[in-house]
Amino acid sequence: MSFSKNFLWGAASAAAQVEGAWLEDGKCSSIWDNAGSRIKNGDTCHEACDHYHRYKEDVALMKELGLKSYRFSVSMCRVMPVEGRINPAGLAFYKNLVRELREAGIEPLCTLYHWDLPQWAQDKGGWKNDRIVDWYLQYAGAVVEALSDQVQYWMTFNEPQCFIMLAYVNGGHAPFCHDVSSFRRHHLRNMLLAHGKCVKLIRKMAKTPPKIGIAMASTTYIPDSETPEGLRDAARKSFEGRTGEEFNSLYMDPIGLGKASPMMKRYLSAEDLKIISEPMDFVGVNVYQPSNPSLNQKAYEAEHHKKTSMGWVVDGRCLYWTVRQYWERYHLPVMVTENGMAVDDAVAGDGACHDPERIAFLDEFLGNLKRAADEGIPVLGYQHWSIMDNFEWCEGYTPRFGLIHIDYRTQKRTLKDSAKHYAEIIRTNGETL
Ligand code: FCB
Repeated sequence: MSFSKNFLWGAASAAAQVEGAWLEDGKCSSIWDNAGSRIKNGDTCHEACDHYHRYKEDVALMKELGLKSYRFSVSMCRVMPVEGRINPAGLAFYKNLVRELREAGIEPLCTLYHWDLPQWAQDKGGWKNDRIVDWYLQYAGAVVEALSDQVQYWMTFNEPQCFIMLAYVNGGHAPFCHDVSSFRRHHLRNMLLAHGKCVKLIRKMAKTPPKIGIAMASTTYIPDSETPEGLRDAARKSFEGRTGEEFNSLYMDPIGLGKASPMMKRYLSAEDLKIISEPMDFVGVNVYQPSNPSLNQKAYEAEHHKKTSMGWVVDGRCLYWTVRQYWERYHLPVMVTENGMAVDDAVAGDGACHDPERIAFLDEFLGNLKRAADEGIPVLGYQHWSIMDNFEWCEGYTPRFGLIHIDYRTQKRTLKDSAKHYAEIIRTNGETL
């Protein structure tokens, strides 16, 4: 069976991580622009990869690689830099980007929110303030109005786990809060309602038939054995064990099943759940590592000791199992919206960037994705994280996740060996795997 003929082989990025131009054309600052000393090495995302000015060069490189799709995010700071006011200059950038992609034959996949909340919204409480649902919908409506003649694929949010839990409870991401007592009642409920209402709004407003999803940070347990009992146990650990609920079902069950997980039950009414579970067309999964190490650290790591330069375990089976477990639980076609690794790579004396680790990673993970496709699970596409090295949040510019190397002093782009390898995989529609 393998990959479908129109499989979306692509790569991903996010506005705050690549665009730069942090105060240009009316953009306001975001909570990440203002993260200050929380970012390693005094780095900021103010310039990033300067993609805002270099998008034509970047799209040309995507075309050279033969990408079929590109997942980008729109910055709310460009489009609604002041509460209630839409900024046409901000929308213009994305219209140009999308036009450039279409002309290159690349399908644009648009994420409406990838963490860069406007500072003005945070000053009013951010995701804690129930009015954020209206701000978000007004913003999203303007984007859909402007881009939906060219854009078909939409993701309402990227990884709510991070911009809600990590940002407002654990204090590890901007805006670095510890609001344990109200995050389910307000932050998470607001995000879920905003999602459901946005799905409805896109469906109603879009000028071309839309395909709507969300990109989740999946944390999946790989079965200890592929017996019926082993599979049941693994799915339970992925969605119902404590770690599984915190990472997966807390967010995805209300959306995908119209059901609140135990931790969320008392905060969502039947009416809320109806709004939140507005039907989607696909679910996006961002896949980096399995949850096995956190549940079973010593035994697991004794066997699987390969790690990325972020310290994340490399085990390609987690891609297969995430796709399968999401499909079996939610019965929605699956798009891999992110998957990749950080490598300490550099441009060598010969002018190339040799990254054999990423080549091995691609083969291992995509081999596992092929298994899912071979078994008939509807997999729509694969967006490698990332198209280019970029600003990795609190880690700054040290981790390099890109297929394209960026020299941050000169903004020179260099295709890594892995990019050429990926281009070959795309050319053969995965037959070489
Ligand atoms: C994901 C984020 C993405 C990037 C990768 C490495 O959690 O969605 O922006 O930082 O991790």
